[in-house]
Amino acid sequence: MEIYVVKDYKEMSKKAAKIIAEEMKRKKDLVLGLATGSTPEGTYAKLAKMCEKGKIDFSNVVTFNLDEYLGLEDEHEQSYHHFMDKHLFSKVNIKPKNTNVPAGCPKNIEKTCEKYDKKIESLGGIDLQLLGIGNNGHIGFNEPGDVFIPETHVAKLTEATLDANARLFKSKDEVPKESITMGMKSIMNAKKILLLASGSGKANAICMSLSGPITPWVPASILQLHNDLIVVIDEEAAQQILEQKKTMQRARVYKSY
Ligand code: F6R
Repeated sequence: MEIYVVKDYKEMSKKAAKIIAEEMKRKKDLVLGLATGSTPEGTYAKLAKMCEKGKIDFSNVVTFNLDEYLGLEDEHEQSYHHFMDKHLFSKVNIKPKNTNVPAGCPKNIEKTCEKYDKKIESLGGIDLQLLGIGNNGHIGFNEPGDVFIPETHVAKLTEATLDANARLFKSKDEVPKESITMGMKSIMNAKKILLLASGSGKANAICMSLSGPITPWVPASILQLHNDLIVVIDEEAAQQILEQKKTMQRARVYKSY
C-alpha cells in the first residue's frame, strides 16, 4: 500500500489526476473504473484540462462507473450519468460508446447486472479503479453488511448514506433508497486501485478501512488485501491513520505538505 498525504483537496486532485494520466500514457486503451461524488470532481477538472492541452488522450479509453441510483433516468440532474457527462465525458475526447455507467432504470435488473460484469471481464478487467469512500466506509454503493457481495447488484442505501447524499437533493426523502453498484469482485480484480479522501469527515473511515480488521461492516477494509493500492488523502482525512504506527510501518508513506 502506498499512502500519499497531501495538503488539501486541491493537491489531492492534482496528484490523483497525475496518477491517472500516467496510466493513460502507459496504456492507450486503458480500462478505467470511475467514481462520482464530491471527491473526484477536482480530479476530473484536472484531467479535462490536461486533455484540452493535448497532454492526454481519451480516444481509446474505456470507462466503467461504479454505480447509479436505481430509479433515476440518465437525464435526471442527480443521476450519475448526468454527473459524469457534466464533469468529464463532455469535456474530453472519449467516445460515448466507450463509457459505461450502470442503468438507473433497467428493464431487467438481474440481466443488466450480469451483463455489466461480463462486459468488464470481456475487456480483461479494470486496469485502474478510482474510488472515493463513504463516511461509513462504503465503496461504490457496497454498504456495510454481513457479507462482501462479489457481483454487480442492487444495494439498499443505509441511513448514513442517505443523510450524506441528501445535500445534493431538495430533501432526504428525494434520495433514491436503492442503487446498482459494482460488487467487490470487479473492484478487487482491478490491476491498480486509487483511493481518494479529503476532509476530517473521512478520517475515521480511512483509519478503520486501512488499519482496522477486514470486515464487510467496513467495506473498504477489503482493500487491505489488494496488492497495488494507492491512497491519496489530504492532511485532514489522514488525521487518524497517521497515528496507527503498525499500518504506517507496513505502508509506504509519502508526505508532501
Ligand atoms: C460514488 C461512489 C461513492 C462515493 C462516496 C463518497 O460513485 O462510489 O462510494 O465515492 O459516497 O462520496 P463523496 O465523494 O461525495 O464524499
